[in-house]
Amino acid sequence: MRILSGVQSSGRLHLGNYYGAIRQFVELQNEGEALYFIADLHSMTTVRDGPLRKELTREAALAFLSLGLDPKRAILFRQSDVPEVTELYWILGSVVPQSNLERAHSYKEKLDQGLSPDFGLFAYPVLMAADILLYGSDVVPVGKDQIQHVEFARDWATKFNVTYVKGYDPQDPLGKEKGHAPGVLKLPEARVQEATATVPGLDGRKMSKSYGNAIDLFGEEKETRKRIMSIKTDSTPVEAPKPTENSPLYQLLKLVAPPAEFPALDASWRQGGIGYGEYKKKLVEFFFAAFGPARQRRAELERDPGELERVLEDGARRAREVAAPVMDAVRGAAGL
Ligand code: TRP
Repeated sequence: MRILSGVQSSGRLHLGNYYGAIRQFVELQNEGEALYFIADLHSMTTVRDGPLRKELTREAALAFLSLGLDPKRAILFRQSDVPEVTELYWILGSVVPQSNLERAHSYKEKLDQGLSPDFGLFAYPVLMAADILLYGSDVVPVGKDQIQHVEFARDWATKFNVTYVKGYDPQDPLGKEKGHAPGVLKLPEARVQEATATVPGLDGRKMSKSYGNAIDLFGEEKETRKRIMSIKTDSTPVEAPKPTENSPLYQLLKLVAPPAEFPALDASWRQGGIGYGEYKKKLVEFFFAAFGPARQRRAELERDPGELERVLEDGARRAREVAAPVMDAVRGAAGL
């Protein structure tokens, strides 16, 4: 099974990014051949500063490695280090109905906000489909907001195969029946990460960098402590049972506490007798226990910038090896 996903790095990573995406990526590296890339080409639709993009790309790669991605197992690379992806993007674009792109969420949202989108944003889903199809991906772990994109990738792979592969039958994409040919592009499947929706920020809204309510994974120690201590709580007295609904503190404890410790914590929460301040201190403790090792690995990696570069270059080389036979078949079919 080949697993592929990309992340767009928009800044420092926080708990929401970890529990919503990165944790699953790291777990999936044991389930098949995983390819993960930092989508620096996609980031061009929003980040307009070259040196900043370089920095953000590095930051994301560092985070992956610190949080347990094993570069000997999974392939970690920069999207722009595999030039074949932009070639496939063009080839695919020639079979993409414009009407599909006009109803893409990412594009429609910008229009609704009254912004004037550029071609890059309009074409964003085509590049994403190229990312997915170039590596013959079976499974694409994504958040809910990206399902439409994976479905587009399936539709356009089918369209390409129907157009260019003689004997291809969309009802039999693997060409199992006599007289049918298998497709050149494999149809991927989205795997939706359920946890994505449930990481609350300090104020109880969804944790997001843009809301300023995030707890950064690699933030400064004192600042991290201060932020956790500022989590919004209600005025339930110390001795009273605490509500579990709409309590970001409770939800964060549930995520970050060691599984063996949570049940006792949960029981005391429902019983009363302990104040919110104490629970916040617990969360601080759990946070540093959970992410201390990753924070340390990150600091070590930072001291040796050459190491990160070597990992990414090796990843790109391996990714290109995976892409080569697919690209050969695509060029062959299309008469290029
Ligand atoms: N669009 C994705 C996001 O913003 C990032 C991405 C780019 C991606 N290419 C991909 C995800 C291919 C999965 C597969 O989250």
